[in-house]
Amino acid sequence: MCLTKTSSCPYYPAMKNGPATSALQTMADVWEAYREELEGVEDQGRKNLDSTVSLVNTVAAHILSSGGKRIRPLLLLLCARLCGYHGRDPLLLGSLVEFIHTATLLHDDVVDEADLRRGRQTARRVWGNQVSILVGDYLYSKAICQIVGFRNQAINEVLSEACRKMAEGEVLQLYYNGSPLVSESEYLRIVEHKTAGLIAASCRIGAIIGGAGDEQQEALFQFGQHIGIAFQVADDTLDYAANGDQLGKSLGQDLRQGKATLPLLHLLQHCPEQDKQMIKDRMETRSLTEEDLLRITTLMQEYGSMDYAMERARTFVIAANLDLAMFEDSSPKRALSIVADYMVSRDR
Ligand code: IPE
Ligand code: IPE
Ligand code: MG
Ligand code: MG
Repeated sequence: MCLTKTSSCPYYPAMKNGPATSALQTMADVWEAYREELEGVEDQGRKNLDSTVSLVNTVAAHILSSGGKRIRPLLLLLCARLCGYHGRDPLLLGSLVEFIHTATLLHDDVVDEADLRRGRQTARRVWGNQVSILVGDYLYSKAICQIVGFRNQAINEVLSEACRKMAEGEVLQLYYNGSPLVSESEYLRIVEHKTAGLIAASCRIGAIIGGAGDEQQEALFQFGQHIGIAFQVADDTLDYAANGDQLGKSLGQDLRQGKATLPLLHLLQHCPEQDKQMIKDRMETRSLTEEDLLRITTLMQEYGSMDYAMERARTFVIAANLDLAMFEDSSPKRALSIVADYMVSRDR
């Protein structure tokens, strides 16, 4: 594997320095500017779906080819470019981080009993829970097998730590399942573990292959933590507020599964007792009709619960932009800042 900082990597041709900073205004510009590299990430992912057990490839391809924003590979790539690395290692590493993310989705959809993901039936709906869990395990393992091939202890450590944290976050979330008595700080602890950990790890891996020093690595890790928290808080708000078709997931799924997320915690603190009891009942019994959901989203609008959650998410985006302050202006820095803003402006 090539892990050198130079552009004369023997395995891959050199990449250009990226687009002009002024050409990057929106997230669509960022996706377009890095399209070729992101296609390289897809190619690597396809190449790595090479199990001799064809059901593994079929199930993994079902979810991997159904879209997905590829935020984690993009961040890994941008952080590597920011730190001056112009080779193609981020493409393979990004695809492996995406494998890990995909594994968590296969597992998460079983835990959350979800029917829809990226606008398609979830793997568990098509092949059942057992297959979904086991193919998730396969993707985790495949990613680890490939990553250890890089023989980079720092990458191994950051990624294994992220996986540990994700599992802890999911278990902590399960521990609180059905309970409305979650404090905001405990909610943020879950979010930091289950979501921000892998996003932060993606950023640090980019910094590591970019040969960044400890201070820069730490700044990019913190950047990832902050946008990761913003990302999940926004996701939890979209679960009530999004256009379901665009989101590609069923709305109201969190409450239906007994999860008290930030907009709901805010509502529980502000709505009248009668509504509070109704919400608690739905959480405990895990029954939620479309009428209930409409009532709850109307209440959320009335009490500003979704605005509150998005405002909270925005404070993490502000913190993330400050994490970038030590880096000189460049197109990858501009792109990272646009990605940070996208965390709270996205609709899918
Ligand atoms: C979904 O992640 C799970 C969360 C952490 C909220 P993404 O929103 O990144 O999912 P895809 O990969 O784009 O579908
Ligand atoms: C994110 O939580 C799951 C992981 C980080 C694995 P959610 O349960 O909110 O994610 P979605 O909404 O199903 O994508
Ligand atoms: Mg889920
Ligand atoms: Mg969600």
